Amino acid sequence: MTENATENYTWRDTNVAKEVHGVRTAANVGGFFTPFLRSGMRLLDCGCGPGSITVGLAELVAPGEVIGIDASADLIARAQENAAIAGLSNATFQTGDVYSLPFADDSFDAVWVHALLEHLHDPVAALTEMRRVLKPGGIIGVRELDLDSLLIGPESPALVRFFALFIRLTRENGGDAQIGKKLAALLTAAGFQDVGMSATVEQSGLAARQPFVSAGVFASNMMALLEPFETRGYATAAEIAEMRQALTDWAQSPESILIGLRCDVLAHK
Ligand SMILES: C[S@@+](CC[C@H](N)C(=O)[O-])C[C@H]1O[C@@H](n2cnc3c(N)ncnc32)[C@H](O)[C@@H]1O
Repeated sequence: MTENATENYTWRDTNVAKEVHGVRTAANVGGFFTPFLRSGMRLLDCGCGPGSITVGLAELVAPGEVIGIDASADLIARAQENAAIAGLSNATFQTGDVYSLPFADDSFDAVWVHALLEHLHDPVAALTEMRRVLKPGGIIGVRELDLDSLLIGPESPALVRFFALFIRLTRENGGDAQIGKKLAALLTAAGFQDVGMSATVEQSGLAARQPFVSAGVFASNMMALLEPFETRGYATAAEIAEMRQALTDWAQSPESILIGLRCDVLAHK
């Protein structure tokens, strides 16, 4: 993966890309964006990860070309496998840095960005670069989390503390887990027009009607953050143990629910 002096991707070396990001599809996260896609469009997916969303976008614009770009060579290899399994001939993937896109000005009809800006230290610089490669009038769709929107049940001070430390870790890694509410301002600062924002709910827990991943998978993936919390001295060993137990209890409680908003933004060049 490309190392950036001011960023340290929070989920690197965890199972999250496989077990959580890999269940995302164009249908289950891209509903605000896909109605604007047309056959023949050329589309760029920035920070495509394992490509599970990209393949659905490629089906929608076929025979138009889709390119997925990501800093992680491992994830690009996985995205290539996913495209091969889907039998796609119009999707290619390459490693690269969204701050410096290896594409000509005005060369894409559409740009897609999912769960990327929350990891970047300078989202306006990245968005400005995305705008450069977009054709005049081209469309961008961006979807990012905001942990200020989180509802957790049953009430748990240890889980509230866990998510406060999640926000702190993301910030110290160079990102912003409270970025959702800022997206309209960030896209405007990058020069986009017609910026419009809404939000969609993501939910997990045994009481969730439409969990995006099971409670057990969600909790076990969150536990990967306990190690950096401990090594960075965010919490004592006893507090770490309390948070681990709270995640375990939450995943087993028939009343468990976790609901958070993802902010969805559409804009044009
Ligand atoms: C949370 S994952 C999202 C992956 C995918 N878009 C999804 O929603 O499933 C963020 C992705 O951004 C990539 N990434 C982080 N910084 C990047 C950069 N500067 N340039 C390109 N990709 C980057 C990471 O490697 C990771 O795959």
